[in-house]
Amino acid sequence: MQRRYIDIASPEALTLKTDTLQDPGPGELAIAVEYAGVNRADILQRLGLYPVPDDASPILGLEVAGLVAATGADVEGFSVGDRVAALVQGGGYASAALARADHTLLLPEAIDTRLGAALPEALLTVWHNVFVLGALQAGETLLIHGGGSGIGSIAIQMAKARGARVVATAGGSEKCQRVAALGADFVVDYREDALIDTLQSAGFAGSIDVVLDMAGGDFTAHNLQLAAPDGRIVCIGVMRGPKAEIDLFQILMKRLILTGSTLRGLGMSGRAEGFSAINSQVMAEVASGRVAPHVHDVLPLSEALAAHALMQSGAHFGKILLDCRTA
Ligand SMILES: NC(=O)c1ccc[n+]([C@@H]2O[C@H](COP(=O)([O-])OP(=O)(O)OC[C@H]3O[C@@H](n4cnc5c(N)ncnc54)[C@H](OP(=O)(O)O)[C@@H]3O)[C@@H](O)[C@H]2O)c1
Repeated sequence: MQRRYIDIASPEALTLKTDTLQDPGPGELAIAVEYAGVNRADILQRLGLYPVPDDASPILGLEVAGLVAATGADVEGFSVGDRVAALVQGGGYASAALARADHTLLLPEAIDTRLGAALPEALLTVWHNVFVLGALQAGETLLIHGGGSGIGSIAIQMAKARGARVVATAGGSEKCQRVAALGADFVVDYREDALIDTLQSAGFAGSIDVVLDMAGGDFTAHNLQLAAPDGRIVCIGVMRGPKAEIDLFQILMKRLILTGSTLRGLGMSGRAEGFSAINSQVMAEVASGRVAPHVHDVLPLSEALAAHALMQSGAHFGKILLDCRTA
């Protein structure tokens, strides 16, 4: 199958090239990609700051949605023509890509491939970090830093659907309003308000059971201060910096767990387990619209660099996608 894909000519030059996609191997699908999700890791990879694992394609792109074009041996549950969304081992910025069947979701009737491309990375990140590592339960309180991000916007809806109370941070009053409209019970504008004072005044001191933290840096100490006894703080990103000074006393006095993960670090079987749980426990909420991805903008595949610039600007709310049909 011929594909057009984005090649990293240099960190500031992404160009379209053409080659032939290899046939899907056992357990794999070839997908005619309609839309690909843009992720922060793609920007780091473009800049040479995110080493590509040996078993991954060097082509940018970690998630796609489109139509199954071919199935490899031993694939069950998928047929040519099915509408799917998948996490890929690189190679997503392309008009065709290979995906493992067990890293692929069949899209429900109500979800087109445009919305579908916004799902794999966000659903799996939130599932694994909030519900597996964070073990968030109904009735507990979740603090999400970056409530308006692709990840945060899905996290708010998944947590609310499971009966949790959600506190979120976002930058700017417009984003805060949109985060509240997604279902967050309390939103702090981290640019305008002192995070710790605002949350303490609102009665959240010592009451946060789980933190989904993509901020890191100085927010780490705040997370420990705000955490409830037996709280779980899960780091998925370091938008405020990778280093923090923390009060270990908070950890021992409250029996806190400070952990984190990356999707690539989950490994093939960890990701497959996550997708299996998402299929059985989350996709019904996606089908009903209870958990709905928010797409900020869709740019042509050839404008991948502009899509990265948009993400780096921070002006977006939700996901940025590439239209790979125009490749
Ligand atoms: N560990 C994993 O498995 C995994 C998987 C996927 C993504 N991630 C990470 O999760 C984060 C979100 O990913 P995404 O794709 O959803 O990206 P995104 O849509 O670009 O979101 C980035 C978020 O970070 C917030 N942010 C930026 N600078 C900040 C600062 N100085 N202080 C506080 N918040 C700040 C932004 O808030 P405002 O726009 O409101 O300012 C925005 O909500 C990224 O760090 C990404 O690398 C991790």
